[in-house]
Amino acid sequence: DDSTDTEPRSPVVTVMGHVDHGKTSLLDALRHANVVSGEAGGITQHIGAYQVASPESGKKITFIDTPGHAAFTAMRARGAKVTDIVILVVAADDGVMPQTIEAINHAKAAKVPMIIAINKIDKPDAKPERVRTELLQHEVQVESMGGQVVDVEVSAKNKTNLDKLLEMISLQADLLDLKTNAMRPAEGTVIEAKLDRGRGPVATVLVQRGTLRVGDIIVAGAEMGRVRALISDQGETVDEAGPSVPVEVLGFNGPPEAGDRLAVVENEARARQVTSYRAHQKRENAAASASG
Ligand code: GTP
Ligand code: MG
Ligand code: NA
Repeated sequence: DDSTDTEPRSPVVTVMGHVDHGKTSLLDALRHANVVSGEAGGITQHIGAYQVASPESGKKITFIDTPGHAAFTAMRARGAKVTDIVILVVAADDGVMPQTIEAINHAKAAKVPMIIAINKIDKPDAKPERVRTELLQHEVQVESMGGQVVDVEVSAKNKTNLDKLLEMISLQADLLDLKTNAMRPAEGTVIEAKLDRGRGPVATVLVQRGTLRVGDIIVAGAEMGRVRALISDQGETVDEAGPSVPVEVLGFNGPPEAGDRLAVVENEARARQVTSYRAHQKRENAAASASG
């Protein structure tokens, strides 16, 4: 934040945890959607980003879903970097597992506050108390264990305590007093990017400051372009995206890389200057690592 950041902004919340502990199910329940059923093998393969309005205040919360599979460590590290709050999902029947511990470490390294969602409490073999004890062994001390970390027992399946979880997120967000400046040119982070057969390069971007608009000239990593279309998390075409808003950006000349910083520049000459320098550096780095 700097001195021009005077307007409140929505919190960005990353959902992390061990594979199949119910991260996507929980997000589906919060946003009345059904992403899980469309996933190959029920395994999340990419980062999804969505906004949910709190039923009480109407205030928006931006959620980022991450895969729990061990192969996706880099994606989770990225999630921890763009986030204000981590929701650590732990299945009450399974307890603390390797990707739970990894997520705890990401959150601690990024110095991001954590809220624990003890999920699947509908299951007959759910042992929420055991989860709390296991967390303590990894230096996560929930309130009932004398610590400061908030935990909420939830069931994504039965939609139990979801309002309570949203309320805890809102309270934590209020403490963080998140501010931004929507008036400046956009800055953000590429969450993921791909080359889509029909639409060309598509980047999912979390706008962090300023406002991104159709027609803006953009750079991200070694790629540049002009925003041709912006698509919201609802799949709707929008003219602009402000701070804390996740949006699909069409118009890059090539797909940037996840984690790249997005910026708006004055003109194409400037964009070419920035990206040709970065592309050159990228080639040099690749050559250096290839020669050992
Ligand atoms: P990855 O993204 O692959 O790491 O998994 P995930 O953490 O997103 O879990 P997902 O939402 O895919 O759920 C895994 C399984 O647990 C699915 O079969 C869900 O239906 C089930 N599940 C999720 N939440 C609950 C819950 O509250 N209760 C019960 N009984 N099952 C649940
Ligand atoms: Mg998932
Ligand atoms: Na899954």
